[in-house]
Amino acid sequence: MKILVSPSVLNADFGKLAEECVSLEKSGADWIHCDVMDGEFVPNLSFGLPVVEAIDKAVTIPLDVHLMIRHPLRYVSRFAAVGADWITFHLECDDDVASTCRAIKDCGCKVGISLKPATDVEQLLPYSSLFDMILIMSVEPGFGGQKFIANSTEKIAKARKLYPDKLIQVDGGINAENAQTVVNSGADVLVVGSALLHCADRKAMISTLKALKRK
Ligand code: DX5
Ligand code: ZN
Repeated sequence: MKILVSPSVLNADFGKLAEECVSLEKSGADWIHCDVMDGEFVPNLSFGLPVVEAIDKAVTIPLDVHLMIRHPLRYVSRFAAVGADWITFHLECDDDVASTCRAIKDCGCKVGISLKPATDVEQLLPYSSLFDMILIMSVEPGFGGQKFIANSTEKIAKARKLYPDKLIQVDGGINAENAQTVVNSGADVLVVGSALLHCADRKAMISTLKALKRK
């Protein structure tokens, strides 16, 4: 399967967010990764519904919404209504995981479940019929621009083995130097934030990432 690239706009210039998203789409991005934070599940605030709606109006590619919030169940239908195609929430949230998966599916969206670095992939086993994608965090969620946690590669490999028919997305600290290793471990979707937004040639970087093959 071809590697998908989902740029995170968390570190974009928010004063010209629509232009940034259009530039990413023109540069070959497969999806746009929208990081939503509530200041409680993670110690940071980012953006919410109106900003996701504005991104949806700016681009035609799918929106991949990553909810780092305590109560995703309260918001899934509203994110679906403003244009989310994929909705990913955290296994460590305060809502019922199975109900949240079903609610996302009922809205017509694809279901992702994310794991913080300390959460084992086996904890997803009871829900394996309810989700489409696993999002493995390779940094502590909350901020862009952090360093990739090296032992995430073992966790990605374990997830690949346990869930052979799910998409595996990896998020946090991915750059041109470590992307091949992340793909070799089993990643299908690479979330890339600061390394892509601050590079000189977005198109070249995205096409290099999309051309990676598992070795
Ligand atoms: C972190 C977010 C990530 C992050 C990615 O909590 O979920 O999507 O912004 O940015 P980089 O690639 O800079 O780590
Ligand atoms: Zn994210």
